[in-house]
Amino acid sequence: MTDIALLRDRILDLKEKKKAIILAHNYQREEVQDIADHTGDSLELSRIAASIDCRIIVFCGVHFMAESASILSPDKTVLLPEIKAGCPMADMITVSGPRNLKNYFPGFEYTRGYRYPAEFTLREIKKLHPGVPVVTYVNTTAEVKAESDICCTSANGVKIVESLNTDKVICVPDRNLSAWIAKNTKTEVIAWDGFCHVHDRVTADDVDKARRDHPNAVVLAHPECRMEVLEKADHVTSTSGMLRFAKSSPTKEFIIGTETGLMYGLRKQNPDKTFYSLRNDMVCPNMKKTSLQSVLHALETETYKIKVPEEIRVPSKRALDRMLEVK
Ligand code: 13P
Ligand code: SF4
Repeated sequence: MTDIALLRDRILDLKEKKKAIILAHNYQREEVQDIADHTGDSLELSRIAASIDCRIIVFCGVHFMAESASILSPDKTVLLPEIKAGCPMADMITVSGPRNLKNYFPGFEYTRGYRYPAEFTLREIKKLHPGVPVVTYVNTTAEVKAESDICCTSANGVKIVESLNTDKVICVPDRNLSAWIAKNTKTEVIAWDGFCHVHDRVTADDVDKARRDHPNAVVLAHPECRMEVLEKADHVTSTSGMLRFAKSSPTKEFIIGTETGLMYGLRKQNPDKTFYSLRNDMVCPNMKKTSLQSVLHALETETYKIKVPEEIRVPSKRALDRMLEVK
């Protein structure tokens, strides 16, 4: 038996014994996606975490995802196999405390515009716009969710903002998703200056080059990409939205503007189609931290437990529940 097969067997055995369920985000390593009970985008995994019957959820993803699972299912043990698997964008905004983005990203430049610059905290922005609802991307900490009216994901941002029937919203933390929502709704969006370093690096020139290289391909882009990229894409959607689109489309070639982990699911589900990455360096190092070894370690030792204090969990659950109620 190979090492991988041995590891898989031990994981499956322990999973059964401990009544555990493994959830894996679409960006996870191939072998981790293969061992999972469910793979999906942030919205799908939140829905599963809220409804699934088990004792333990092993969340193969990044910290905010496991935190959301724990917020939605406080009676279950939620394990994050790699405690250092975080999302830099989620760590960019705080409720009130200071951050130092220059330490996080050496050379980071604030982009000025209609967005609030990154030194503003969520409470400061709320104070400047009393009564304006806060729509918070799930890529945030539980504390930020707890200060929000409703959450959204890349799959439902436009729908969530429209469901509020208001002229103005505050959207945090992703400047690109916020710009996409502003473009596709009649609502005024007060945005903030966060971004995903994996998606924000892609430029319009990258799209032009990929189209020159693959003239018959359809371009799919994640809303965390810059507007200059989204405007050139044929379809803008979440990771699972891309999986659905590629499966149902008669097209045979696709250029994929998101983290390269999605290529595995796309190729597996569509062996007759060809997928090219919009850029080969669209790799999220945090998503790649989880391995089969770490999943096994998580199950053996029941670490790392992700638990949110009740005073934060209850208001953050309200914001997540409101999102999940929007059909
Ligand atoms: P999805 O919800 O589209 O899977 O995206 C999550 C994420 O972290 C994107 O970078
Ligand atoms: Fe965060 Fe970007 Fe990684 Fe998604 S791809 S987890 S947004 S850093």
